[in-house]
Amino acid sequence: MQQEFKNVYISTYGCQMNVNDSERMYSLLEMNNYQEVEKPEQADLIIINSCSIREKPVHKVHSEAGLYQKLKKKNKALRIGVGGCVGQQEKKNLLKDIPYLDFVFGPDNIDDLPRILEELDEKKKVAGAKFKHQEPYHISNMVRNPGVATFVNITKGCDNFCTFCIVPFTRGRLRSRPLKDLVADINGLVARGVKEVTLLGQNVNSYDSDCGANFAKLLQTLAEDTQIQRIRYTTSHPKDFNQELVDVLAKYRTKLCDYIHLPVQSGSTEVLRRMNRVYTREEYLDKIRMIKEAIPGVSLSTDIICGFPGESDKDFEDTMTLAEEVGYETMYAFMYSPRPFTKAARYEDQVDEKVSRERLNRLLTFHKQQAFDLAKRYQDQVLEVLVESLDKRSSKGADAPRVMGRSTQNKLVHFDGDESLIGQTVKVKITETAPINFNGVRVFDSKELQQEKTS
Ligand code: 5AD
Ligand code: SF4
Repeated sequence: MQQEFKNVYISTYGCQMNVNDSERMYSLLEMNNYQEVEKPEQADLIIINSCSIREKPVHKVHSEAGLYQKLKKKNKALRIGVGGCVGQQEKKNLLKDIPYLDFVFGPDNIDDLPRILEELDEKKKVAGAKFKHQEPYHISNMVRNPGVATFVNITKGCDNFCTFCIVPFTRGRLRSRPLKDLVADINGLVARGVKEVTLLGQNVNSYDSDCGANFAKLLQTLAEDTQIQRIRYTTSHPKDFNQELVDVLAKYRTKLCDYIHLPVQSGSTEVLRRMNRVYTREEYLDKIRMIKEAIPGVSLSTDIICGFPGESDKDFEDTMTLAEEVGYETMYAFMYSPRPFTKAARYEDQVDEKVSRERLNRLLTFHKQQAFDLAKRYQDQVLEVLVESLDKRSSKGADAPRVMGRSTQNKLVHFDGDESLIGQTVKVKITETAPINFNGVRVFDSKELQQEKTS
């Protein structure tokens, strides 16, 4: 008898962790007779996998769910659920506020999804948003078509309690996956053709394995004991970025990418104290010097919050001067958004939204120019590019097909080439730079030229 499939549509927003969580949901659901569809109109099951780090994404869940209400009127069997951090944060409230919603679940309950759906056959509504703090973090990687570069979760949750941040409340306590599981997962991905992994966690350098390995040891083990070609990781906390880690990064530089995302959040020591970031401006700058010394040419990236409660004009100037001094090639800047449960939401000296917006605009304008100038250092350089895919956009109307891939500094490089290059690391001379996207031409050394001729 032919198997009957149901259709599932997942709408994802938020960080890479959420994107990876959605992939896990799809994988689990495929094992339970669901198939992915491109449009919500085609679905028997719709999941909104949400983010609650700032307030805007929470509003988005409500407005998006509103759009699906119409679909439910047409198809009574349609099930709608909200997962991710909004599911965790709002739990049953969401079921009350949005009457046509069938279920909610948190990031810790993804593996329960098949059971939740079964329960829905018996019950009208299901809320599955319990933390699993006490249990060890045993999951295996689940990704359907990993391609050339993919993500691997190494930790979940966070114990840092930065006073602006909702993550410790939505993703729970820090748990690390066992080192041997990560080695096995990454070897498995290599066997499926993966060349690059990005290790994911809210604070990867708090990694603390059951066998006593810290993040530096994890990187060293993955570099030595697996055949993966490149390793990236995000996000790092400056407090845990120490000399031991930097030494490992420098030693295994061919595998560990020259790109470090090190969120500073603010350039003012006083604001950092009130954020509970546990480092000062000077300590952060010392770490940046240590990194630059050990890894010359490293590309640095950061997150910054503008308008944190109590941030004065002088505090903001400190952020501007720090950004200037560090020279970030990539920056994610946000306006402070008060979040439920967090300490900073109760601070009395909230900054006027207009002031926060002005500061954010000033910072972004400055960064745009700085990133543009910093990118010029790559002009005429030859970069090692791991080709990820055909570049359909720039191939359109071009004489030859184009491909795109990343340099170790996380620059997206576009150049002439065909599908056979996907998965290969090739040398590309940069002919045109912008902050993120570069154009280039492939170059060959004499040995490679010889091989090209004979193949
Ligand atoms: N308001 C604004 N930005 C925030 N972030 C986290 N919480 C908030 C908030 N309440 C930003 C931080 C963090 C990034 C992922 O999101 O800069 O590093
Ligand atoms: Fe949030 Fe701070 Fe943890 Fe990052 S380190 S997830 S900002 S609490």
